[in-house]
Amino acid sequence: MTERRKRLYVQTFGCQMNVYDADQMVTGLAPMGYGPARSAHEADLILVVTCAIREKADQKVFSYLGRLEALKSRRPGLKIAVGGCVAQGQGRRMLSRAPHVDAVFGTHAVGRLPAIIRRIEAGSGPVVDVAMDGDGDAFAPFTDPPADPGVARFVTIMQGCDNYCTYCVVPYVRGPETSRPPESVVAEVTGLVRAGVREVTLLGQNVNSYGVKEGLPGFPDLLGRVAGVRGLKRIRFTTSHPKDLSDGLIEAYRHIETLCPHIHLPVQSGSDRVLKRMNRKYDRKRYLERVAQLREARPGIAVTTDIIVGFPGETDADFQQTLDFLDAVRFDGLFAFKYSDRPQAPAARFSDPVPEPVKAERLNTLLAAQTAITGESYARLVGTEADVLVEGPARRNGAAAGTQWTGRSPENRIVNFTAAPPASPIAPGMTVRVAIAEALAHSLRGTAIPLDAPADARKGEHTHAA
Ligand code: SAH
Ligand code: SF4
Ligand code: F3S
Repeated sequence: MTERRKRLYVQTFGCQMNVYDADQMVTGLAPMGYGPARSAHEADLILVVTCAIREKADQKVFSYLGRLEALKSRRPGLKIAVGGCVAQGQGRRMLSRAPHVDAVFGTHAVGRLPAIIRRIEAGSGPVVDVAMDGDGDAFAPFTDPPADPGVARFVTIMQGCDNYCTYCVVPYVRGPETSRPPESVVAEVTGLVRAGVREVTLLGQNVNSYGVKEGLPGFPDLLGRVAGVRGLKRIRFTTSHPKDLSDGLIEAYRHIETLCPHIHLPVQSGSDRVLKRMNRKYDRKRYLERVAQLREARPGIAVTTDIIVGFPGETDADFQQTLDFLDAVRFDGLFAFKYSDRPQAPAARFSDPVPEPVKAERLNTLLAAQTAITGESYARLVGTEADVLVEGPARRNGAAAGTQWTGRSPENRIVNFTAAPPASPIAPGMTVRVAIAEALAHSLRGTAIPLDAPADARKGEHTHAA
């Protein structure tokens, strides 16, 4: 028996792990009668799933909570619960900074959320649960596959991190690294595929050390098992730490066809001196070797990365090495961040901070350099073909309904395309061959190729398409 229908609004900040956790929360609260609210304004319960990775992310959370205060003063029955990494780090202190919050629950308390919500519904007063011990399956306490899961989903395979990079808050707010048993991962993926999912992205802070602590078979073995799930067209994963990238993973790229030709491999800096101070435990030489091996195993593989500029002590010469590194690797894309002090992480106490204007200038220089590289590599794709896993209709003004679609290539490039007759009817979840006609800054545009077009008229770019 379910209870009276109540409306739930979820505001998620941060990384894919939070997206996965937020989905779990929605599943866990459904039997209590919570269905989706269209906006925060009509919600009975608002969940805020927070991120603490940089100071700005932290600030965003508090400014959002500030806005909710006004809403709550108009609708006193509204309940607000704050989860995720800021909640974990702040615990009870969250209540003094945001006294209108009803519950604070940490990154390991997702399974206990229904009980927490019951307590606040019953008028318990504020509840704080930031204990790091989980009950049951701490990864996916709620196993019902969602009714309408879409085409691509995240699946968390590991929690926490033991690497302690000197800038990073994650080990403190996500706890020690733990791996989920492979059977549990495969069962979840199987359920998702039955519900219509075609692509999964396996999530962990460092998937390359999957299972090591627990003595489980490693990450390449897990990839093999997931690839065995019938009906799954594509496997992706994130994030991979360069220090632990194994020969076995490189072999997996050679042999597992449904493993997409893309790797997100955060380098953080191109200077060995900075990498050492970051406690990353690899150097640029090792990184370049690994990239060369990946490219040999899977020609055409897309390599993307994360870079931090303005880490304490980063000199102009260090930064120049990062710029040179972009030329050496020629990344397919990157996320760049200005270093931000995290009070729990040791780099916050390093004595040689880089001034804010220097960080900003380095960020701009880096982004401009990468824009040029991405522009060149996207331009080269014009005239080739890509297999696109269709995610849904493209949002483009003035387009006739049902003719503009969006999806991703195996390399994870966004491809928008038109499909006019004689192309077959398109639906989300289909893989469609698209002739690329135009390159934009962050996406490609093209036209669906009718299935019966002669194969010899095609210039196939990728041989490992799903
Ligand atoms: N586990 C992943 C990273 C997760 S955090 C890995 O090790 O590769 C995502 C990205 O945020 C990091 O790759 C890093 O580039 C950035 N980041 C983390 N802490 C940061 C900080 N204090 N300041 C700026 N960027 C940071
Ligand atoms: Fe943070 Fe480093 Fe762990 Fe990634 S590997 S989550 S950057 S401590
Ligand atoms: Fe942010 Fe926590 Fe992810 S700090 S990046 S939401 S693990």
